[in-house]
Amino acid sequence: MELYKLEKVSKIYHVANEKTHALDHIDLNINKGEIVVILGPSGSGKSTMLNILSGIDNPTSGKVFFDNKRIDKLNEKELTNYRKDNLGFIFQSYNLIANLNVLENVELGKELAKEPLNIKDLLELVGLKEHMKKYPYQLSGGQMQRVAIARAVVKNPSVLFCDEPTGALDEKTGKIVLSLLQEINQKYHTTIIIVTHNPSIALMANTVVKMNSGRIVSITKNKDIARALDLRWA
Ligand SMILES: Nc1ncnc2c1ncn2[C@@H]1O[C@H](COP(=O)(O)OP(=O)(O)OP(=O)(O)O)[C@@H](O)[C@H]1O
Ligand SMILES: [Mg+2]
Repeated sequence: MELYKLEKVSKIYHVANEKTHALDHIDLNINKGEIVVILGPSGSGKSTMLNILSGIDNPTSGKVFFDNKRIDKLNEKELTNYRKDNLGFIFQSYNLIANLNVLENVELGKELAKEPLNIKDLLELVGLKEHMKKYPYQLSGGQMQRVAIARAVVKNPSVLFCDEPTGALDEKTGKIVLSLLQEINQKYHTTIIIVTHNPSIALMANTVVKMNSGRIVSITKNKDIARALDLRWA
């Protein structure tokens, strides 16, 4: 079942007299329930791709479909609803609210959700039940990222966008975070789209998209999916 379809999507940025083809005629399908890893060097267009898929940015040309509906022509309100109803986000920096504790941070993600998950169950899943009264400064990096994951997942989004989710973490902690994403994918059938520089992470994906200079260089389907905890960091 197809979730996203990109047809000849281009994004051109104009700065001064310079033109950058951040995305250059991209065709891509993403299926429901997959883990997709997008790999590529700095500046290859990975974040631009996430921004287009998540409706944060519009393509210069081309078509973007989500669930068979065009999303590149939505107005602000429709875009807000699209994001609110369907998407969760995780970034390299955890973006937690410093003066809210773990539980309160996760509760933030639940606001306006139609069918939120049970917060206590979710805190159990991410291994933070004992820490739910702690404030961000009292947590390790890995724990903060797990709070950010819980906050993104509590509204039970159909897609979870992760831009360098392990970028600030050491190998051991990074794998625990990735393993959690794998569990969420299996338990809730969440489609997970991970952008990373780390080629090891590609081994846990269903589909690996390699980018360079705004183009897709290759799309690979993995026959065997590695467990995140078994990955060897590049
Ligand atoms: N708002 C913007 N204005 C102008 N140019 C931009 C803008 N955003 C991105 N670009 C350019 O588009 C290209 C792709 O950028 P993008 O952020 O998508 O790369 P990336 O693959 O995510 O890189 P990184 O791994 O460093 O995060 C780069 O050349 C970048 O300089
Ligand atoms: Mg980026």
